[in-house]
Amino acid sequence: MNRFVLTLSCIVIILFISCTQNKNIEVISPDGKLKVELGLTANEEIFYKVFFNQNTVINPSKLGFDFLDQESILKDLKIVKINKKSFEDSWEMPWGEKREVINSYNSVQISLQEKKAPNRKFDIVFKVYNDGLGFRYQFPEQVNMSDVFITEENTEFNLTHDHKVFWIPGDWDIYEHLYNTTKFSEIDATKYRNHKALAQTSIPNNAVNTPVTMVTNNGIHLSFHEANLTNYSGMTLIVDTVNLKMTSCLVGSDNRDYKVVQKTPFETPWRTIQISESAGGLIESDLIINLNEPNKLGDVSWFKPTKYVGIWWDMHLGRKSWDKASENHGATTRYAKDLIDFASEHNIGGLLVEGWNTGWEHWIGFEDREGVFDFVTPYSDYNLEEVVNYGKEKGVELIMHHETSAATKTYDQQMDSAYHLMQSLGIHSVKTGYVGKILPKGEYHHGQYMVNHYRRALTTAAKYQVAINAHEPIKATGIRRTYPNAISREGLRGQEFNAWSPDGGNPPEHLPIVAFTRMLAGPIDFTPGIFNIKLKPYKEKNQVNTTIAHQLALYVVINSPIQMAADLIEYYKNNPAFQFIEDVPVSWETTKVLNGEVGDFVAIARKDRASENWFVGAISDENERELEINFDFLDKNKTYNAIFYKDGKDAHWNNNPTDYKIETKKITSTSIEKIKLAAGGGFAISLIVNE
Ligand code: NOJ
Ligand code: CA
Repeated sequence: MNRFVLTLSCIVIILFISCTQNKNIEVISPDGKLKVELGLTANEEIFYKVFFNQNTVINPSKLGFDFLDQESILKDLKIVKINKKSFEDSWEMPWGEKREVINSYNSVQISLQEKKAPNRKFDIVFKVYNDGLGFRYQFPEQVNMSDVFITEENTEFNLTHDHKVFWIPGDWDIYEHLYNTTKFSEIDATKYRNHKALAQTSIPNNAVNTPVTMVTNNGIHLSFHEANLTNYSGMTLIVDTVNLKMTSCLVGSDNRDYKVVQKTPFETPWRTIQISESAGGLIESDLIINLNEPNKLGDVSWFKPTKYVGIWWDMHLGRKSWDKASENHGATTRYAKDLIDFASEHNIGGLLVEGWNTGWEHWIGFEDREGVFDFVTPYSDYNLEEVVNYGKEKGVELIMHHETSAATKTYDQQMDSAYHLMQSLGIHSVKTGYVGKILPKGEYHHGQYMVNHYRRALTTAAKYQVAINAHEPIKATGIRRTYPNAISREGLRGQEFNAWSPDGGNPPEHLPIVAFTRMLAGPIDFTPGIFNIKLKPYKEKNQVNTTIAHQLALYVVINSPIQMAADLIEYYKNNPAFQFIEDVPVSWETTKVLNGEVGDFVAIARKDRASENWFVGAISDENERELEINFDFLDKNKTYNAIFYKDGKDAHWNNNPTDYKIETKKITSTSIEKIKLAAGGGFAISLIVNE
């Protein structure tokens, strides 16, 4: 039992206020910097506005719903009850970016009712934290509202100015787009339609996906997202470039004329705004995860955070294939054993094997994908049990792979038997994939149907002590707090685009944006660590657009309890830079953002969960820069043997990406170092306590 759980304080004040019609209701964050005001307009519509450090950051914004067979809920409302509360608590992450999470907020629950028939009732709850706010709608059980068919949720976010925005389009089917940096008024998501490298994409509106991050003229950082997306559709945000306003647009389905079906009582996901003076404050924020319910799975120590290698990059480089019909089938018993040998010699606990099971001959490009993939039958050149047992002898656990090809019925049918097989073999994690248009046709990856499918996979997997790393997933919304077996996910343009994307791969600024956007949602399976940056001799037209030092830094910058050493192992053998990957942990005691600007650079320090050692990672966009690192975060009474992995003098993401140097030094909490980052470069530091 840890000391934090024992020292919890709890609910502090509860206040009931009976109806005040004309005065706005205020809720202020515990530190007093953030304020939300709620009230009714002249038409008796409910609105909210937000202030940060006395500045308005969200102008009055309305809240409401459209339904299939009922009038919209918007106007003629009265406030029936106001319930204010203060809360303070802390809880422990089983693994992750920090151990202790403080959960401290002030909240208000406003009960509203229509003044006219059918006199429907709903509540709005706002929780105001120091790092942002969340609000949700709750519909109680009531006579005039039972089955509810939502055609649209009309939550508004009215901006104060034409902010600088880091955005991806509001695609209903995939998040794997490059980020754009524009003024809000210049957002045009439609230009992302028909991306050549995507097996599925659907961008019906000029909308953005979340997290969407903005920087205001006076340097305030805002990020809009959602928390606890459960039995509902994912939310995109329609952009009104003239009135500088975003309005929620739920992901729909071609098979129904409503977007969400529910039954009262129900509640929506939280709509969230993270707010911070500094860019780094967004990364340190726990808002999203705090707005989720506590762990429902109990003891999850059967999952061990780990680094992993895989039979994977081979396929993306075109050196090997997933399907056995081709000449160079990747997933063979022999190759898997070679990788196990390498992993066990280099402090890597996991091996992912893709293309091990039957069905790959009928994958991309096929319409009739149901009933094709089989998640218990290996190809004849891959002896699953032999590989598992070999791994056990060497201390390396297999990571299962289930590419569903988005054929959801087939996966639903096989989930139990597939996870059962894993449990019987002692395999505790699976990478799932959902490449292609969803079957049944007409559903989208981010709609309610799929939100429920992904959740069913998680809860079913938990019964068999299996954790999931989903690719082509639904966005992360902090569910990992409730279901810690949601260990990681893709949900962004991963490293793989560098191997084959016709658009030149991910530019150097990709991760300096991702750290302040997608990463705010939760852990990312990005698969860093490519050393053979130019991808020769496998790919002539593609490359990774960073230096090696930048690749190393990603193991600290990116938060995930599983991190791949993604390159072919021959590029690691005899390369001294690999020592960093060998040393870096994947679960942290604490995290500190040392410096950063969205889209430009970020430097993060994280302390290992299992030792007193610290690790630092910093990455730059296409510009070179110098960063001053103040090591005052280190323990005052300790000396550290530091190993610096820096860009070499002539390093450059394109001209000289493999130029790096390693320096060792004694470092203490009073040390200050100036370090140069190349264009597209970075640095990584391991700080090992000197015993
Ligand atoms: C897409 C995933 O993102 C990738 O990592 C995987 O190799 C393929 N699907 C095959 O499942
Ligand atoms: Ca993918």
